[in-house]
Amino acid sequence: MTGNLRIDLDRLLARLEALAEVGAIAGGGVSRLALTDADKAGRDLVVSWMEGLGLAVTIDRIGNILATRAGSEDGPPVMTGSHIDTVAAGGRYDGNLGVLAGIEVMTVLNEAGIETRWPLAVGVFTNEEGARFQPDMMGSGVHQGALDLDEMLAATGIDGTTLGENLHRIGYAGAADCGAVRARAFVELHIEQGPVLEEQGVTIGAVEGVQGISWSELTLTGVANHAGTTPLRLRHDAGYAAAAIACAARDIARDMGGDQVATVGAFTLVPNLVNVVAKEAVLTVDLRNTDEARLREAEARLAAEVARIAENEGVGVARRRLARLEPVVFDPATIDLVAATAARLGYSVRRMPSGAGHDAQMFAPNCPTAMIFVPSKDGISHNAAEYTAPEDLRAGAEVLLQVLLAKANE
Ligand code: GLV
Ligand code: MN
Ligand code: MN
Repeated sequence: MTGNLRIDLDRLLARLEALAEVGAIAGGGVSRLALTDADKAGRDLVVSWMEGLGLAVTIDRIGNILATRAGSEDGPPVMTGSHIDTVAAGGRYDGNLGVLAGIEVMTVLNEAGIETRWPLAVGVFTNEEGARFQPDMMGSGVHQGALDLDEMLAATGIDGTTLGENLHRIGYAGAADCGAVRARAFVELHIEQGPVLEEQGVTIGAVEGVQGISWSELTLTGVANHAGTTPLRLRHDAGYAAAAIACAARDIARDMGGDQVATVGAFTLVPNLVNVVAKEAVLTVDLRNTDEARLREAEARLAAEVARIAENEGVGVARRRLARLEPVVFDPATIDLVAATAARLGYSVRRMPSGAGHDAQMFAPNCPTAMIFVPSKDGISHNAAEYTAPEDLRAGAEVLLQVLLAKANE
C-alpha cells in the first residue's frame, strides 16, 4: 500500500517558493547566511510547517531543529534533512530541497494515515555552508560528536561576532542536548550542484560518498609603500604574493589532474588602494579530492609553494585551518536501496561521488547513511541561477519517500 504513495509536487514547489522569498535576491536566488535575521525568518517559517504537521519539534544547543514523527515502536528515528542557510548569494534549492522534501514526506504520511514502525525525523542543521562561520557542516558535526559544542559556539564569523551570540540573538540557542537523539539511519536528498547527471541524461544520483575538504586561511604580511617610487627589488608586496599563491593553487590542481580541485574564493588586501603596495593580504584556499592521500599531497605541495613565494617576496605568512574533513564513504546497503528504489520507480540512476560537503557526511561514521542527488541545470550552484526542473524535484522526493519508508519499517 505504501508503494502507491505519491508526493504532491505543487505543495513541495509552493514551500520552496515561500522559503525562497525569505532573503530573496535578484535572479531568483537567496541570501540567508547562517544565523542572520533572514536565517531566523526562514527557520520560523519551516518550524511553523513542522508544527502544523503535529511533529515534535526540538531545538538543540547548536541551533539544530529536529522534528520527529512517532512510530509504532520507540527507538532512534530514521532521519532525513539538510540545511536552510545559504552562501551570501546562493540558490533556492541547495539544502532547502532536502529539508522541504523531508517535510513533504511527513505530510504525505500524515494524509495517508500511515504509521511507520520506527519514528521518522527531519532535521535543519545549523551553518552547513560555513560561509559566515567556519567550519562547514557545523550543526551536524556537533550533533554527531565530530565537533566540540563550546568551540563552535565561540567560532568568530566574517563580521567579527560569535556563533553563540548570534544563536541567542535570533532565539535559536535551544535547550536540547546535541545528539541526544541518535539516528537509526540518515538519508539526505540534495541537488547535485555539478554537471554530471544533466550531461548524462540521468535523473537520480545514488551518492557513494563525499570528497575530502581542506580549508585554510593565509594572512600575508608585507610593507605598505608608494606604488610609484618603490623599486620592485625593494618591495614586500603582500598582494603580489597572495596573487601568486592563488595561481600556484590552480597550477597544482591542474598538474595533479584527476579529481583535484583548488579554489581561492576570498581575497582581501590592506589598505586596498590603487597607489599603495599592500601591507597585508588575507586569502582562503579550498582544496578537495576524493582520495585522502592525494588531498594530503595537494596540501603539502601548496604549503611548499606558499613558503617559496613568501620567502622570495620577503613577506610573513600565518596559516589558520578553517576546516578539514577526510573523504567519506556511505553505507553500501543504503546506497543499494537508493539505486534499487529509483529503478523500481522508473527513474534512471547512476552511482556517483559528491563534490560538495553535506550534513549526511557527518552522520556516515555513526549510522547507515546515503544521499540522493537530482540534476542541477548547467551544473550551477552557489549562484542565484541554481535550478532543478520540477519533474526532477518530484523524482528525488519520490525516491526519498520510498527509501525512508523502507528504512522506517525495517
Ligand atoms: C559546503 O556545502 C561546501 O561544499 O562548500
Ligand atoms: Mn547544501
Ligand atoms: Mn552549499
